[in-house]
Amino acid sequence: MNARPEDFAARAFSREELEAFWMPFTANRQFKDKPRMLSHAKGMHYWTAEGRQLLDGVAGLWCVNAGHGRKEISQSVARQLETLDFSPTFQMGNPAGFDLANKLTKIAPAGLDHVFFTNSGSESVDTALKIAFQYQRLKGEATRTRLIGRERGYHGVNLGGTSLGGMVGNRKAWGPAMIPGVDHLPHTHNPAKNAFSKGQPEHGAELANALEGLVALHDASSIAAVIVEPISGSSGVLVPPKGYLQRLRELCTKHGILLIFDEVITGFGRTGSAFGAQEFGVTPDIITCAKGLTNGAVPMGAVLVKKEIYDAFMTAPEGAIELFHGYTYSAHPVACAAGIATLDIYEREGLFQRAKELAPYWADAVHSLKGLPNVIDIRTYGLVACVEYEPIPGSPGKRGFDTFLRCFESGALVRGAADGTALSPPLIIEKSQIDQLVETLRKAIKAQ
Ligand SMILES: Cc1ncc(COP(=O)(O)O)c(C=O)c1O
Repeated sequence: MNARPEDFAARAFSREELEAFWMPFTANRQFKDKPRMLSHAKGMHYWTAEGRQLLDGVAGLWCVNAGHGRKEISQSVARQLETLDFSPTFQMGNPAGFDLANKLTKIAPAGLDHVFFTNSGSESVDTALKIAFQYQRLKGEATRTRLIGRERGYHGVNLGGTSLGGMVGNRKAWGPAMIPGVDHLPHTHNPAKNAFSKGQPEHGAELANALEGLVALHDASSIAAVIVEPISGSSGVLVPPKGYLQRLRELCTKHGILLIFDEVITGFGRTGSAFGAQEFGVTPDIITCAKGLTNGAVPMGAVLVKKEIYDAFMTAPEGAIELFHGYTYSAHPVACAAGIATLDIYEREGLFQRAKELAPYWADAVHSLKGLPNVIDIRTYGLVACVEYEPIPGSPGKRGFDTFLRCFESGALVRGAADGTALSPPLIIEKSQIDQLVETLRKAIKAQ
C-alpha cells in the first residue's frame, strides 16, 4: 500500500500544545513558532502535516537505509510483539537476540564475532569505552585509563561520548562533567590541499602520527583506546585521507592501544560496504553501530568486539558475571525483530552493493554544485556527501541552517552540518531522485 496524505489527519497544534515536548538538538522557540511536522513516510519520501511531499535526502537522520515504511520490518515487529513483547536479557535470553547477533557477525569484518546490544549510538559508544577499560585491566594493564578521540568527532551525547567528541557546541557547557584523561587527535579536514575531493582525499595520512605525540606525552602504558569515526559524519562528512586509517591501526597495534571505529553512520552500507572498516580495509578492535541496524524503525545499537576481547572476559570464575554492564532493553526482542528483518532486506536487495554502484553517479551529481556562490568545498564518498559554504561572518552555521529550510520548503529533506549541507539518502534512491535532490539544493544555494 502506498501511504496517502489523506490517510493521516493533518492535525494542527496550538503553540501551547507544542510546549511540553522539549525537543532534542532543536531551536525550540523557533520551531514552535513555525513547526515543521512530518506526518508519514514511504519509500524515498516524507509527507508534512500539510500534505507536502519531501524527498528524503538524509535517510531521516542517517538511519533509514532501506527506505521508509518497509512492510517486512513492520510485520516482523508485529509478530514479535504478539509472541514475546519483552523479555529480560539479564541471566535470560530470547531467540531474536541470538539470531540477530549471528546475522550481524556474518556481515561484520572477520574477527569481530561478538555483539553487545544497546539502544542507541550514544550507549554503544559508552559501552565500548567501558569494555576497553576493563579489557586492559583484565590483561594486567590497569594503568591504561586514558582515552583518545578526535577533533570534530561526534560520538553521541552520553558523558563518555561527549568527552571524546570534538564538536565545540556539544562540549562547551559540560566542562567539569566530562570524564578525565581524554585527549584529541587533530581532525583531518584540510580544504587548502583537499578541497573538492571525490572519495578519499590525497593529503593527510601523516595526521595519524599525532598519536605518537600523545604516546610521547603520556606513555603508551597510560592509554586504553582511540575512538574515531571512519568518516566523521555530523561535523560535515570528513572522509579519511588515503592511508590515514591504516597508519592509525599500525600505531595502535604498536602501542597496545585498542582502536574503536564508531560506525553509527558509516555502518550498514553507507560507504558501499557493510562497514567502513571493510570499505577502507582496516579492522578495528571494536565497532560501535546503531541507526541502520534497524533501519531506524526501532531504537537499537550494538557493539561488535574481537574474539580476543570477549575471550579475555570469559576467564572470570564460572558462574560470575563477566561484565557489570547492560541495559533493561539490551537485545529487546522487538528491536531484534526489526534488526533481523532489516538485515534480510539489505542482503536480499543487495543494498550495500547498490550504494557502491551508485557512488560515481552520486559523486558527479553532487560535485556539479562546484562553482556556485559560497560553495567552498564538496566531499563525497559512497552515498554520503557534504557541501560546505563560506560562513557568514559572525553567524556561523547560518548558511547551513537556511539552506536546510529552503530545501524543506521546496520539497527535500537535507541536513545542516556546521556551515554545510549533509546528504545521506536511503540506499534505494534512484538516479532521477539524485538529480532531483541536487537540483533542489542547487536552487537553495543560489538563493542564499
Ligand atoms: C558517529 C556517531 N556516534 C554516535 C552517535 C549517537 O547516536 P544516537 O543519537 O543514536 O545516540 C551518532 C549519531 O548521529 C553518530 O553519528
